[in-house]
Amino acid sequence: MARARILIVDDEEMITSSLKKGLEKEDYDVITASSGEKGIESFKDGSPDITLLDINLPIMDGLKVLDMIKKINKDAVVIMITAFGGVDSAVRAMKLGAYDYIEKPFDLDRLNIIIKKALETATLKQEVRQLKGEQQEKYSFENIVGESSSLQKMIELARKIAESDATTVLIQGKSGTGKDLLARTIHFNSKRAEKTFIEVTCTALPETLIESELFGFEKGAFTDAKTAKKGLVELAEGGTVYLDEIGDMKPSTQAKLLRVIEEKTFKRIGGLRDIKVDVRIIAASNKDLQDAVKNGEFREDLYYRLKVIPVYMPALSERKEDIIPLVKHFISVFSRELKKNTKELSTQVKEIFMNYMWPGNVRELKNIIERVFILEESDTILPEHLPKEIVASAASNNEIAHSSFAIPHDGISLEHVEKDFIHQALQISGGNQTKAAKLLGLSRDALRYRMQKFGLL
Ligand SMILES: Nc1ncnc2c1ncn2[C@@H]1O[C@H](COP(=O)(O)OP(=O)(O)O)[C@@H](O)[C@H]1O
Ligand SMILES: [Mg+2]
Repeated sequence: MARARILIVDDEEMITSSLKKGLEKEDYDVITASSGEKGIESFKDGSPDITLLDINLPIMDGLKVLDMIKKINKDAVVIMITAFGGVDSAVRAMKLGAYDYIEKPFDLDRLNIIIKKALETATLKQEVRQLKGEQQEKYSFENIVGESSSLQKMIELARKIAESDATTVLIQGKSGTGKDLLARTIHFNSKRAEKTFIEVTCTALPETLIESELFGFEKGAFTDAKTAKKGLVELAEGGTVYLDEIGDMKPSTQAKLLRVIEEKTFKRIGGLRDIKVDVRIIAASNKDLQDAVKNGEFREDLYYRLKVIPVYMPALSERKEDIIPLVKHFISVFSRELKKNTKELSTQVKEIFMNYMWPGNVRELKNIIERVFILEESDTILPEHLPKEIVASAASNNEIAHSSFAIPHDGISLEHVEKDFIHQALQISGGNQTKAAKLLGLSRDALRYRMQKFGLL
């Protein structure tokens, strides 16, 4: 970190100059101001990491200055310098958002300890702000790529969900279709964005752990519970809890979750007290929850509560228009991330990508592009850069697609096809049996035999 900058605002020349000297010895960059008004100017111009602010200033008093500084930057770290015994005003300053206070007369060592702690806080705050900013940028709706109408409709719905803060959302779709991405994008574009987003994968933990992770426990709830612990639902206060693979959640946890959704309350394990929470639940499932309800594995009442706003993420094979835009998107992502030249797609590779069924959906596509970026230097992506299975599978899908004899989904009898083709051949040949037989690669006798069989003679 660069040298930390400290602003001292005090009207007593003696104090400012001796503090300045002392702090400069500690290798801080120190600026000073002799009045509240000047202090505010220096705060704006110098953007100090920490401000030491005398509470007793003439004209504009320290509390007023503090208030102004906090309005300029609500995360500003301000340490108040108070007169001996001035606890009352110190308390008021803390209420206005001061970080700490120190009473006159003070020694430099004590001040230094407070400054060190305050700097840690300032750095942390800055990091959190930067991370949040990055996340907000990363999870903008513009970064959900796709031109298909099914994806566009989904995004339109998700934007409304983000704006409305209607509490519960259910995202259904196969693995790799973008459920996580969507849940985060909704959170970071909602008024909850400043608060926490917590992800819990219900499959990853055994039942008892899931409950204590989600709802926390009171001291003594079980042998190991030496102290009480807050659960994730409580920690996400004001934010979003994303429950992935909700279909795997066990019935007792389902019941507790239902209560969180319906009554916005829950109890910690071993607790008697109801705790109020304001969280938005976004649940995701790659299984058909309706089936789970039918099989008695999932509570029907919870299913209906979750399903108030259902979002369906279509499989990539159902929206082939999105394949090439996604490939281009990931090419630009990985060329940036891995600091490599961008790549073009050869015509054959485009065709392979369009013919492949993408059972792993967008995740699979993303992984393949990443792999090519890591393994291949060439500026054009060629078929030999792709995993063999994909090329083979795409080729066989291609043959099927180009076959004019596609079998209908509900099946067809071979006899029906034969009869139909004989009929067509006779029509084309104008009833000339020799010509018709030739069209079908049969002898005239073989054709006549079949015509007889199908009652065409
Ligand atoms: N439409 C999309 N645009 C851009 N990236 C996407 C899109 N859909 C999915 N991804 C990316 O693909 C990967 C898998 O998506 P993910 O949200 O984890 O899927 P799921 O939770 O449904 O299994 C993630 O890296 C995600 O960012
Ligand atoms: Mg997921």
